[in-house]
Amino acid sequence: ETGLITLDPGYGNTGSCRSAITFIDGEQGILRYRGIPIEQFDAAPNFVEVAWLLIFGHLPSPEEYDTFAADLTGCANLDEGMKHHFEGFPRTAPPMAILSAMINALSCFHPEIFELQDKDSVRIAAAGLISKIRTIAAYAYRHSKGLPYIYPDPKLRYVPNFLHMMFSQPYEHHVCEPIVRDALNLILLLHADHEQNCSTSTVRMVGSSQANLFASCAAGVCALWGPLHGGANVAVLEMLEQIHQGQMTPDDYVRLAKDKDSKVRLMGFGHRVYRNFDPRARMLAKIAEQLLPQLGVKDPLLDIARRLEEIALEDPYFVERQLYPNVDFYSGIILRAIGIPVSMFTVIFAIGRLPGWIAHWWEQEQTPGNKIARPRQIYIGPPETDRVQLSERR
Ligand code: SDX
Repeated sequence: ETGLITLDPGYGNTGSCRSAITFIDGEQGILRYRGIPIEQFDAAPNFVEVAWLLIFGHLPSPEEYDTFAADLTGCANLDEGMKHHFEGFPRTAPPMAILSAMINALSCFHPEIFELQDKDSVRIAAAGLISKIRTIAAYAYRHSKGLPYIYPDPKLRYVPNFLHMMFSQPYEHHVCEPIVRDALNLILLLHADHEQNCSTSTVRMVGSSQANLFASCAAGVCALWGPLHGGANVAVLEMLEQIHQGQMTPDDYVRLAKDKDSKVRLMGFGHRVYRNFDPRARMLAKIAEQLLPQLGVKDPLLDIARRLEEIALEDPYFVERQLYPNVDFYSGIILRAIGIPVSMFTVIFAIGRLPGWIAHWWEQEQTPGNKIARPRQIYIGPPETDRVQLSERR
């Protein structure tokens, strides 16, 4: 019984839909993946396990997990022909532009994705995309630095392999500390799905026309790129840096964010659905507090973030509007501590969100009688009028 439903009888499909993947209670600050509270994933965090859970609706059995992990390992490489595309981009190209373009380009090398009919074909396509998005992201980063591409290492698991492709040198393997592996697994799984957010709704909208999985996810990358959505994690770091550089105090910034005319927003605060703490923000704040000291990292931006949160949570402007920290408020501080460059923050969000996009695309694909999305409008333009010939216009 999932799929598009008509909420406003007068306007047909409003784009709202029933889904069995993620549950959010915005008032209570509750988030569950296939019924499992998000808080239960912080012990031995495993992004690959959550990807399976979201896409196939249950936690993988040991055999299912091993099969999926082997699929991911086996299809981490890109077709060598795709490397020429990277060379065509300027070094300064935004990585989200490259990510969207290359995910779309993948469909040229994998015609099998035009015929996804059953669970096995979806499992293989999903593994291919979830695995290759790492390689594309790492190659985009290496290209931006003029560094040689580092091939995936089949001996490494999902997160260590990504960091290997990002940071290893031909003469020296990057070593992923267990604490970093767990932190990045947790960050990715916390971003894995969030029901009908802007980018996931985009994937469903594009997929509803029977566009293939890769094209639909490439569209999701474009929607996620916006600073009001996934781009906010970069905007938060820029905001914290601006305060840290002494251009203004946290109090000044909060004052600015309350002033409509300033067009400034307290980035990483507020949410369309949560009228309470975003449970992911709570978990990420805890990771930041624990991880930085364990890594021996003292980041003044964390102190500034804490101060901003303290001020805003006591300020009537934010309290009345029920504005709380969201997933983007602390994630950047953690990514920075584990060495991910700011330019790649939204790309990390996209890697994390990909299983959710795939799960929604596949849920919609399986919904009997699913119709193409066609939001309606209320026309507010001019009444019927005549065309005046060019020669008679003034
Ligand atoms: C994500 O949908 C999802 O689930 C998204 C996401 C996911 O996992 O996919 O959770 C990920 O995108 C998180 C959001 C990241 N974006 C930001 O942090 C950017 C800053 N936040 C805001 O732009 C805003 O809070 C939004 C975009 C997140 C939500 O905007 P809404 O619900 O449309 O709220 P609004 O713009 O209608 O604002 C309501 C009021 C306004 O004031 P009034 O007109 O009532 O006087 O609250 C104010 C806004 O000006 N407001 C803020 C604010 N957010 C809202 N004022 C200052 N700073 C802010 N951050």
